[in-house]
Amino acid sequence: MKLKWNKNNIIFSYCTEADLKDIASMLSKKSVCKYLFFGPNTEEATMAYFSPLISSIDDSLKDDKIPDFHVFTIREKDTDTFIGQCALIPVEFTNGNYLIGYQIDDSQWRKGYGNAACEFLVYYAFDVIDAFRITGDCVEGNIGSEKTMIKAGFQPEGRQRKYWLNDGKWHDRLLFALMKDDVSEQRMKILRETYI
Ligand SMILES: CC(C)(COP(=O)(O)OP(=O)(O)OC[C@H]1O[C@@H](n2cnc3c(N)ncnc32)[C@H](O)[C@@H]1OP(=O)(O)O)[C@@H](O)C(=O)NCCC(=O)NCCS
Repeated sequence: MKLKWNKNNIIFSYCTEADLKDIASMLSKKSVCKYLFFGPNTEEATMAYFSPLISSIDDSLKDDKIPDFHVFTIREKDTDTFIGQCALIPVEFTNGNYLIGYQIDDSQWRKGYGNAACEFLVYYAFDVIDAFRITGDCVEGNIGSEKTMIKAGFQPEGRQRKYWLNDGKWHDRLLFALMKDDVSEQRMKILRETYI
């Protein structure tokens, strides 16, 4: 079974225990969590969240099965440098609908990795697992994330007002989605040729 996908010098691989330190370090940063609905997290909190997901991924891969939780680490191929992570989390009660997530470490911003992470999730959702819809969200003002989803073809679906309280201020949550039917066969072909 395929465990890693390459795009040029970037590798997406299922998240393992060995990635946790880098993920915890990224999610402890105020810069990275500025627009997230969670964090900054302690190392313990990040470990407690990710450890069961990683165990479940491990168990599935040992049985040669595609995991139920699709959590990926992104690294530079040549140097193994940590870039960030991305994930597709199943939405409860609707089989085939996944919530996307991606975080790029602040030292790696503005190099195209956010766009690549979101595009990889589109490819994986519609080609590797049988998603019919992927749902995205971001806090209003997270322009980088909004641009990333729009570039990947997501359509705005609305706003949830005063969804998140941070630093004494309320923030709206913006919603986006991409349906499998929105993605042409030609685009899927290009994605298949890109993520190898
Ligand atoms: C949002 C995030 C993923 C963008 O990652 P990135 O690697 O810097 O993104 P890219 O370099 O691929 O840029 C994506 C697009 O957003 C734009 N962009 C990125 N950061 C931006 C910013 N702070 N302000 C305005 N535009 C920005 C880029 O110019 C690019 O636009 P283009 O494709 O039209 O040229 C990254 O900043 C991040 O992980 N932030 C912290 C966690 C987070 O907010 N995750 C998303 C949760 S919804």
